[in-house]
Formats: sequence, C-alpha cells, structure tokens
Amino acid sequence: MSGNPTSREESFLVTGGTRLAGEVSVAGAKNSVLKLMAVALMAEGRTTLTNCPDISDVPAMAEVLRHLGCVVEISGDTVVIDTPADVGHVADDKAAQRLRASVCILGPLVGRFHRAVLSMPGGDAIGSRPLNWHQNGLNALGATTRMDHGRLVAEATELRGAGYKLSFPSVGATETFVTAAVLAKGTSVLENAAREPEIVDICELLTEMGAKITGAGSSTITIEGVDELHPVSHRVVGDRIVAATWAMGAVMTRGDVKVTGIDPMFIHVVLEKLRGVGAEVETGADWFQVSQQGRPRARNVRTLPFPGFPTDLQPMAIALASVSDGLSVVTENLFEARFRFVEEMVRMGVDAETDGHHAKIRGRERLDSATVWASDIRAGAGLVLAGMCADNVTEVCEIFHIDRGYSDFIGNVRSLGGQIERVDTHR
Ligand code: EPU
Repeated sequence: MSGNPTSREESFLVTGGTRLAGEVSVAGAKNSVLKLMAVALMAEGRTTLTNCPDISDVPAMAEVLRHLGCVVEISGDTVVIDTPADVGHVADDKAAQRLRASVCILGPLVGRFHRAVLSMPGGDAIGSRPLNWHQNGLNALGATTRMDHGRLVAEATELRGAGYKLSFPSVGATETFVTAAVLAKGTSVLENAAREPEIVDICELLTEMGAKITGAGSSTITIEGVDELHPVSHRVVGDRIVAATWAMGAVMTRGDVKVTGIDPMFIHVVLEKLRGVGAEVETGADWFQVSQQGRPRARNVRTLPFPGFPTDLQPMAIALASVSDGLSVVTENLFEARFRFVEEMVRMGVDAETDGHHAKIRGRERLDSATVWASDIRAGAGLVLAGMCADNVTEVCEIFHIDRGYSDFIGNVRSLGGQIERVDTHR
C-alpha cells in the first residue's frame, strides 16, 4: 500500500475517444475502512481488517492511530491494528489534519477513555464541514465539549445512555454517537440516523466485537451499552462510489462494464438513473453490468442522503450531463462548493451555469480537451471520465486527490481500455 502521498505536481493525461469495456472488481470502501480503523481503538488487542483499499488515506489514518500508541501493519489488502490497554487521547495535529476522516476517532476515544482532543478540521474544497452535531450527540450522552485553541476537547466522567435526534442524517455525527454510546451505561436511541451501507458496516464490526446494536441501516438505531469490546477480524464492505464511477464511465463512453465485489442495491438509485438515460443494466448478488448504446439522454439528478443519489457522485452526474442529449438540472443538497466542478466542465466547452443549489448543463456530443484541476477525490474521477469523452488529450492536475480514494485508479481505467498515463509536470 502506498505510504507516501502522490506529489502535488502529478497529473493524468487522458486521451479521449476510447470506450470503457470489460470487468473490474472494487475493493473495500474508503468511507468504511477509515472508520473501522478508528473503531479498533475501542478494544485492546489485534483487530484485523481485510479487503482494504490501496489508497493514500489508509496509511494517513494509520499515522493518526500510531500517534495514539497503536501498532499498525499494512500488508496487501490487510490492515492489522494492535491497540494497547491504554492509548493516548490527544490526536497529533499534523497527522490528524492530513485527512478529515480523523474526526472518526472522536466517538471511539470518548466512548472508551472518556476524553479526546482533536485538532478541529477546517472546511475543505467541497464546502464547510462543522462538527456541531457530533458535539451535540456527545453532550447528550453526558460529555462536555468545547473548543480550545483550535482543538475540539471532549470529556466525560461517565457516559449514560440517552436519546438524541439528528436534525439531518449526518454520516459522521451518526458514527460519533453510535461509537460513543456502545460503551455507555444504559440504552441509547439515535433518531434520524444516517442509513449508508458504511454505517451498517461499522455497526456490524462493533456487533462482532460485542456491542449490542439494532436498527443499523434504518433511521432509528438503538444501542444497549456493554462493558467492553474484544478485537475481531472483519471484511470491509465494497466501495459503492468507486463501483458507480465505473458504471457512469461506461454510459458516458457508450461502453459495457461489469463491476464485481459490490451489492448493486447499494447504488440502486444510481442504476435506475442510468436506466433512465438509456443504459441496459443487469444485476446479480454481488455484481452488476452496465452497457450503453448511442448518446445518453439528459436527466435531472438531485443529491440526497442514502438511499438517495450520493453527493459523492455529483461530479460524475455533471460529467454525464455534459455529454447527454438535452438539458439536465443537477441539484446539490449536501456540499454547496462541489459545484466548482462545473467551472472545469466549462473549460471543456460545456454550456453550464449554476444558480444556488442548482446546476444547468446542456450536453455536447464531444467535449473539448483542456487542462483541468481536480479539487477533491470525486471531482478528479469525474474529470477523468470527461477526458475520455473529449476530442484530444486532457490533462487532469492535482491527482493526489484521486489517490486518496481510488485503489489503482490508472490500472483499473487501463484494464477497461481507457488511455491514461501519469506524468510529473514538475520534471
Ligand atoms: N453537517 C453539519 N454539522 C455536523 C455534521 C455535518 O452541519 O456536525 C452537515 C455537513 O456540513 C453537510 C451535511 O451535514 O452539509 C452532511 O454531512 P455528513 O456529516 O453526512 O458528511 P461527513 O460524515 O462529513 C461523509 C463522507 C463524505 C460524503 C458525506 C455524505 C467520510 C469520511 N466522508 O462525510 O465523503 O460526501 O459523508 O455522504 O465518510 C468523499 O468520500 O469524497 C466524501 C467527501
């Protein structure tokens, strides 16, 4: 697994005009594995995670855990975390700020050790990302939380089971509440909880470790506190966002792609949308196949929490709209700044404009190749898909973002017939 993040000077050169075809398998989900690694803090001993993706966020998360006293070994698709009886409660500022998902140590540390100090992650390229609901959840369980010199400090003498209702089904705030409540005294009930498959995966790991949780995957999660957890071995759930990226790439390039290692129900709404634009979609228990003949039809998309259309696929939806026949309106309901992606599509000759939460895109048969910038993981993947539909070679800059969340991105694109190479533009 790549220990060093990609240089900021590296770009992808994508040659347009190829059609994605073939079979690809997806590894475990970024947005699950990072949380599962943090959950390992909750049990003394060796927790083993398999099916881990080879992405730069995994070694970054390992560094956060090492600074707290864990021994972390990464080998192939397996991550082993050996957690001592007592771990530190102050996250290293530099290690934690390298990835926003370091927030997920908050619930496990407060749950097991009743204290945590974490450098407050700033907003990022996709919009502001406050932690107020994480704090409210911990406060409901009896902790006190405060800001101190840019760090979030959470403390408790004991945690007591409590009811808490989220005003919005936040993924992170659901995880913080559930992980903290698992070792609290008594029963906790979380209402309006996030229902993402990654939440279910975390609850499955916690349950295997001895937690008593019911309702994961529904809007109400009930947690009966237990005294302690034990380490186990667990397989990370497949990455639905990566899987859907290949599906959308198949439609955009009028290709034919089979994706394995994923329950197609996790992206049911996306596959229905692709049927709506004209694709043929077949599904099995842990695979799906998408093929497209002719130009896709324009369709509107609006992002919503699971089971709605994921915000993490919004750039791909805009890229798809950019080559579709007609006018599409894409509505973003979670992260306002994700519409920066539209500016990159305009560089590629697309007639597009944004108005608040809405982007209007009139598609073109073929895009103009251009030099474009990835502002986050998903925008990067969307730009590569767009580059495949352009007339010449598109340079996608700042691809270190893509390496944070896609295992062997270039290898997978090439195995499907895409023409892509990695270059160091600083040479
Ligand atoms: N929010 C608040 N207060 C909070 C927490 C969230 O106002 O205390 C707001 C956010 O600002 C946002 C909305 O609630 O507008 C939803 O945020 P959520 O908490 O659900 O997102 P997250 O947990 O910070 C995870 C993923 C994101 C993904 C979102 C939504 C991880 C590490 N990140 O973020 O993934 O977009 O859920 O599905 O799990 C990505 O993988 O590229 C990525 C950004």
